[in-house]
Amino acid sequence: MGILVFGSINMDLTTYVPKLPRPGETLRGSSFITVPGGKGSNQAVACARLGTKTYFVGRVGKDAFGPEVLEIVKKEGVDISQAIIDPKSGTGLAVISVDENAENSIIIISGANLALDNSDVERAKTLMEDANVLMLQLEASLEPTFETAKAANQKGIKVILDPAPAYPIPQDVFPFIDFITPNEVETEALVGFKPANQEDAARAAKALKEKGVRTAIIKMGSLGAYYDSPEGSGFVRAFKVNAIDTVAAGDAFNAGLAVAISEGKSVSDAVRWGAAAGAIATTRKGALPSMPHRDEMLKLLKEQA
Ligand code: RIB
Repeated sequence: MGILVFGSINMDLTTYVPKLPRPGETLRGSSFITVPGGKGSNQAVACARLGTKTYFVGRVGKDAFGPEVLEIVKKEGVDISQAIIDPKSGTGLAVISVDENAENSIIIISGANLALDNSDVERAKTLMEDANVLMLQLEASLEPTFETAKAANQKGIKVILDPAPAYPIPQDVFPFIDFITPNEVETEALVGFKPANQEDAARAAKALKEKGVRTAIIKMGSLGAYYDSPEGSGFVRAFKVNAIDTVAAGDAFNAGLAVAISEGKSVSDAVRWGAAAGAIATTRKGALPSMPHRDEMLKLLKEQA
């Protein structure tokens, strides 16, 4: 079965700096790269690299970046037959800084990602026969994102929502979500407190389940991830790697999770696949180029079993 990703696609303009600048501060950076990104297309490329047939629905603009980023996603093996070039919008951009501790800050210029509408939902529906998992984020237009969740849920497709970047989610959407995967900042936006430890994460996951999602997974960066699901709950420690750039680590995590769920793995195994995929992404620079491949993920899972 396949994975359908509905969401954003960007060009990332990334600077590497000793530390993230304070207001009013001018800093000398060490390097700069221009690479494809966007939470949706990062997740799609990671799923393809992890070995699952993957479909991407989204929009780029009719400018220099648009066709270039779409072509790269296609070359990675993602089916982009239902992604379009929108003549009225610019391609989404992300202006990113990464510091020496591998931490990042991101500013998004949404462009075509906010032009998604009901026609994109209809395009996504044409692919649903071939998918058993739908991946969503909150970087593209919200209404169509939630409509796609609803349509997939009605067809029995598992819906994974990465609530990034943080936005309020209408209460009636939660019951359509099988897996929600906030990081600490997004958890705070959803439940009102930032999880600092496993106990907090368990409380946050419970609060999210009470809103109607089946499984809540709290991503806690270098600590690990806590999950609460109908199969049980637990904490998966982060894999030990040499992190140099955390951009898109969350996207890789969600892809590892989605591929495992699509293959029928248990929730605890799927969270481990997510954690391993996310860890690998931190060892390389950039968003899309850092997405993990299946062989290296399986190797890491084996090495740190
Ligand atoms: O999750 C990382 C992504 O967030 C980057 O690739 C950037 O485009 C922003 O969307």
